[in-house]
Amino acid sequence: MRRRAAAEPQAATLRTLVEQQVANNSRSASLWDIYADHRRRLTDLVVSSARGSDLVVLGAGNANDLDLAALACRFERIHLADVDADIALAAHLRTLVALARPGARCLLVTDVVSSETQPLASLLANRRGEALLAHLEEQHGLFSGTSPQLARLMLAQDPELAPQVEDVALLEPWLWRISRSRTVLVYALAFSRRDRGRGR
Ligand SMILES: C[S@@+](CC[C@H](N)C(=O)[O-])C[C@H]1O[C@@H](n2cnc3c(N)ncnc32)[C@H](O)[C@@H]1O
Repeated sequence: MRRRAAAEPQAATLRTLVEQQVANNSRSASLWDIYADHRRRLTDLVVSSARGSDLVVLGAGNANDLDLAALACRFERIHLADVDADIALAAHLRTLVALARPGARCLLVTDVVSSETQPLASLLANRRGEALLAHLEEQHGLFSGTSPQLARLMLAQDPELAPQVEDVALLEPWLWRISRSRTVLVYALAFSRRDRGRGR
């Protein structure tokens, strides 16, 4: 009994702390320009300190303080971890856009739900495309940080991303049999890096 009473306030405190981090990240999302000098110093420091081919960033947040595109040229793999799961999605999109040539077509491809938690075959029989993903999202059925709705919102409204992308299209989701006993649903979001010579 004593154990349980202690665990409940602890869980509530943890939730509050995570909510505070999410709110802070939301407030600082547009500070890319202000961070320029700090970002350059920190990126140089990471590159000069590195010994291996993997970079792990704990608490990456909006990654406004790291030039992920430059780091992607130095490291084979970059792992971004944060309690704010959605924030990693923004960082991945920013890296993708920064690495793409003007005019290039980009694909964000991710699995979003597993047959271990959702009856994928019957869901697919009744709904398709966006309707299926929206239904799963409503049921809180997607892996954290993979929301296609959020990805599209970021591409449309993020002050860093939105001016750089166009022709955003969600492709028809498909099933990937990942092992004998496990299948996952995958979607792809396609978009183009705006060609500076055209449009804006
Ligand atoms: C000061 S912010 C980092 C800001 C980030 N460098 C940027 O440019 O936006 C700290 C980050 O650490 C994350 N964080 C805090 N505690 C954490 C924990 N225990 N595990 C993982 N991430 C955590 C927060 O969600 C937040 O994104």
